[in-house]
Amino acid sequence: MIFNKRFVPLCLVAALTAGATSVYAREKDEAPPIDQIIAKAIKADNIYDDIKRLSKQPRVSGTNAEDKAVKYIEKKFESFGLDTDVQAFQFKKYFGASEVSFSVDGSEIPSIALDYTANGDVTAELVYVGLGKPEDVEDVDLTGKIALIRRGDITFAEKLENAVKKGAVAAVIFNRQGAGDDDEPFGGTLGGADKGVAPVIGISYNAGQELVDRLEANEAVIANVKVEGSEVRTVTSHNVIATKPAKSDAPETDQIVIIGAHHDSVDGAPGANDDASGTATTLELARIMAKMPTDTEIRFITFGAEEDGLVGSYEYVDSLSRDELGKIVAMFQLDMVGSRDAGDLKMFTVDGNPNNVTDYAGEAAERFDWEVPYGQEGRSDHVPFYEASVPAALFIHDPVEPWYHTPEDTIDKISKEKLMQVATIVASAAYNIADPNTPALPERTIKKAKVKKSDIKLFDKEKPEE
Ligand code: BES
Ligand code: ZN
Repeated sequence: MIFNKRFVPLCLVAALTAGATSVYAREKDEAPPIDQIIAKAIKADNIYDDIKRLSKQPRVSGTNAEDKAVKYIEKKFESFGLDTDVQAFQFKKYFGASEVSFSVDGSEIPSIALDYTANGDVTAELVYVGLGKPEDVEDVDLTGKIALIRRGDITFAEKLENAVKKGAVAAVIFNRQGAGDDDEPFGGTLGGADKGVAPVIGISYNAGQELVDRLEANEAVIANVKVEGSEVRTVTSHNVIATKPAKSDAPETDQIVIIGAHHDSVDGAPGANDDASGTATTLELARIMAKMPTDTEIRFITFGAEEDGLVGSYEYVDSLSRDELGKIVAMFQLDMVGSRDAGDLKMFTVDGNPNNVTDYAGEAAERFDWEVPYGQEGRSDHVPFYEASVPAALFIHDPVEPWYHTPEDTIDKISKEKLMQVATIVASAAYNIADPNTPALPERTIKKAKVKKSDIKLFDKEKPEE
């Protein structure tokens, strides 16, 4: 067991209970166990109120709404007496098409523009080229034509490229049978700005199959594909970094613990749970820990542009020296930690293996009679840390709620109980590491090279799909 049972210095009790009435009716010289003190100090109402405030509108990275959230977070960290930095960074952000249409003989067929599609307005004959593999287009002259392609086997970008090489001016990809609702259009991504060599849209399986039938009956089909507003623009986003220095009577460990979340949200979603919940919990943990004696530095960070491919966390990790990276012994990422409609709390590491974070949090949970299993998942800001050999894990409820990335991700779905549990576990685990009474963690060698920066980060779901 990592945690040593012992009594806590009275100064710590004072730091945490300042202003409070006599919550701890104990003997004068006997303090309650530290976990109890921490649990009492956390106020679910504070977290809830911050989520409410942050989720009044979507906080899309690079917009005024993000700037507003960043200022709020910065002020709040400063009000706890923490040294606070705002790290601005620029990146190329993709803005989806504002208008898309597909019509055949003047009648509209529902369609979705693929991410990174080129814009255009073309009317031409439709030609069916199966899966759109090189051998499918080899003997077909697509000059000036629109290619109709079946989903599957190769990436959307490869299909488009193969068709364009043979002269196609646009591509229409129809869904695989049973890959979704056969009557609904589907969306996807080409995976990068350089892949948008012509307009490309997704339509339903049934709509596509009907067109194939007509073409195979030798009917000439004239179609119009129109895409507008798809573009890549350079925008500025921010990370907010609040540092609580190591300060106690004990010698410093020269180690760093990070507690993080992302403050941005996707377009159209207020992001109460994703991830105002993690941001507000990080703020509350900063509040209760700001004055605690620790022999280890604690950094509270909210990242920007997570939803654009973990851009802020890559930027932050990239800004640290190898020496500094080597000092980080644990990175706790809080993302989607308050939904009443999601499953139980889990910890996810990128490789699926336990590490300092899952060990300490697992033990903290046990001390409160909770069980928090770990598993394997990327998809959040713990990934760049993992890639830089830092022990990191994502705290999230699994399965996720149905409101994920929708306009329904609002404050009324937030559970104070869920917030309280994750806040308690993470605070207790982080303090256990930073506690002057616990030894420093063993030194760790950095096995991997520091992560490399690229203009547009691709990860997981952004990976081109076939
Ligand atoms: N909060 C989610 C991460 C998430 C969602 C993890 C559901 C596990 C289950 C995060 O904000 C997100 O949406 N991430 C993106 C990936 C990112 C690299 C753009 C995603 O999962 O699509
Ligand atoms: Zn998220």
